[in-house]
Amino acid sequence: MNCDIKIFRTAEESAIALADELAGLINAFTEDRLFSIALSGGSTPKLLFQALAARHNDSLDWRRVSLFWVDERCVPPDDPESNYRMTRDALLEKIAIPPENVHRIRGEEDPDSEALRYSEVIERSAVLKNERPYFDVILLGLGEDGHTASIFPGKESLFRAAETCAVAVNPYSGQKRITITGRIINNAGLVFFLVSGRKKADIVRAIVCKGSKAGYPAQFVRPVYGSIIWYLDDEAASLIGGSKQKRNIF
Ligand code: 6PG
Repeated sequence: MNCDIKIFRTAEESAIALADELAGLINAFTEDRLFSIALSGGSTPKLLFQALAARHNDSLDWRRVSLFWVDERCVPPDDPESNYRMTRDALLEKIAIPPENVHRIRGEEDPDSEALRYSEVIERSAVLKNERPYFDVILLGLGEDGHTASIFPGKESLFRAAETCAVAVNPYSGQKRITITGRIINNAGLVFFLVSGRKKADIVRAIVCKGSKAGYPAQFVRPVYGSIIWYLDDEAASLIGGSKQKRNIF
C-alpha cells in the first residue's frame, strides 16, 4: 500500500488542491464506465465540494461520474445533520450531474432496511474488483476520536464485516448511521483523507507515524491494491512537519 501526504498552509488551499486532483483523475479516466466516488460527510468536505463546484462545474463532464456516500446519519435529507443535504447545498445543486448518477443513502428509512438496500445499490451499481464493489475514489474524514466513515472506536470489527453496508451508532449522541464497511473502503483504488485543524494533529501523527499501532479505527484503512493520499492543512499536520510534500511508505 502506497501512502502520500500533501500538506497545505490552510484548509482552503488543501480543499482546492484536492478538488483539482479529483478533476484531473476524472478527466483522465478512460474506462468505458462511470467514475465512481464515495463521499464522506461532516464539516470538512464542505470546502472541497465548494471548490469542486466553483472550479470544476464546466471543466468537468459530471455525466461521467457516479456519486455515492461513505456514510449517512439516519435523518431525513433536509435535516441539518444530513450529509446529503450538505453535499446538495455545496455541490450537487451547482453541477450538471444526472440525478440517476447520485446514489443517496435514505437516512429517513428504517436503518436496518436501508443498510440492506444501499448494499444492493452499491453491489448493483459499482464495478466489482477482487470480487467486491470497487470505488475509484473514496473520500474519508477523520474524527477527533480517530473514527472514519461511521466506524467508531470499539467497532473496528466493521473493517472485517462481510456486509457492504452496516448500521452504526454515534456513541456520543446515540444517533444511528449507515456506513460502508472496511471490506469496501479497503478495496478502493484511491482513498483520500481530507483532514484539517489542530484538534486532529495528534490523531494524524498517530496514524501516519504508528500505522497499525495507532489504536484508532482509521488505522485500519489500508487499501489492499490501492493508495492513500492525505490532504492536510498545516494545523492538522503540525506534529508531522510543515507545508511540504512528504512520501511515506507504510
Ligand atoms: C460523518 C463523516 C465522519 C467525518 C468525521 C470528521 O458523517 O460525520 O463521515 O466520518 O468524516 O467525523 O468530521 P468533521 O469533518 O466534521 O470533523
